[in-house]
Amino acid sequence: MGFDLDWVRRHCPGRNLVWLEQTTSTMLEAERLVEAGCPAGTVVGAEAQTAGRGRLGRNWHSQEGAGLYFTIVLKPDLALNLLPVITLALGLAVQEAVVSATGTTCDLKWPNDLMADGRKCAGILVEMQGRAVIAGIGVNVNQTTFPPELSSLATSLRVVTGKPQSREQLLVALLHSIDHYVGLISTEGREAVLRLYTLASSYVRGRRVAVEQENQTLTGTTDGLDEAGFLLLRAADGRRITIRAGGVRPV
Ligand code: BTN
Repeated sequence: MGFDLDWVRRHCPGRNLVWLEQTTSTMLEAERLVEAGCPAGTVVGAEAQTAGRGRLGRNWHSQEGAGLYFTIVLKPDLALNLLPVITLALGLAVQEAVVSATGTTCDLKWPNDLMADGRKCAGILVEMQGRAVIAGIGVNVNQTTFPPELSSLATSLRVVTGKPQSREQLLVALLHSIDHYVGLISTEGREAVLRLYTLASSYVRGRRVAVEQENQTLTGTTDGLDEAGFLLLRAADGRRITIRAGGVRPV
């Protein structure tokens, strides 16, 4: 089904919104827009991506017209220090927007996977681009099937709720909640975001997990977030390890 961009624009007055039929990756499009001096809050989305990027060098499956694939340009002060907490704020924003647009609740798997029925329904990729931050968000909205390699790992909001969902309504809800949660970092401080994330995610405390890193797999029980937003892991020998990157999975 076609994407009603006019409806989205009417509900997001003043937003610089670029929407493409197809691109390699909206992250690349955002890089170009930042280089050309686009304003903070600029959004570039696409109906399909031929080389959607995920975290940890993975691809992001971007079936045409089925999901939301977009990147938003943020221009916070001291962006470098804030990258982990911006990532968490975006997770909270996606979680809240999904509830308000579809009525379904998702869990947050640190740092930025949205999980529904134990499978991933959205992901967030945050990168620095000069002094700006480009935040890519992919949401599986109306997919009914996934490629075999993803079928046990991924789900969509349509599958979870049992009915098709409006991508336009979800995008509008997402842009409002992104403004809100990213804004909280400057109005309430990063601690507010860490507190909210700890409440919103079942993964932050007391969860047995394995963390896949480049050259090792760590296992332990999650033990909260540090002041930067990194995950703390209590290993079997009692050591407390700070997890700065890597894929977390329940064990
Ligand atoms: C993840 O691995 O969980 C992050 C996935 C991020 C995917 C989105 S889709 C829109 C934007 N463009 C990309 O190429 N990737 C992000």
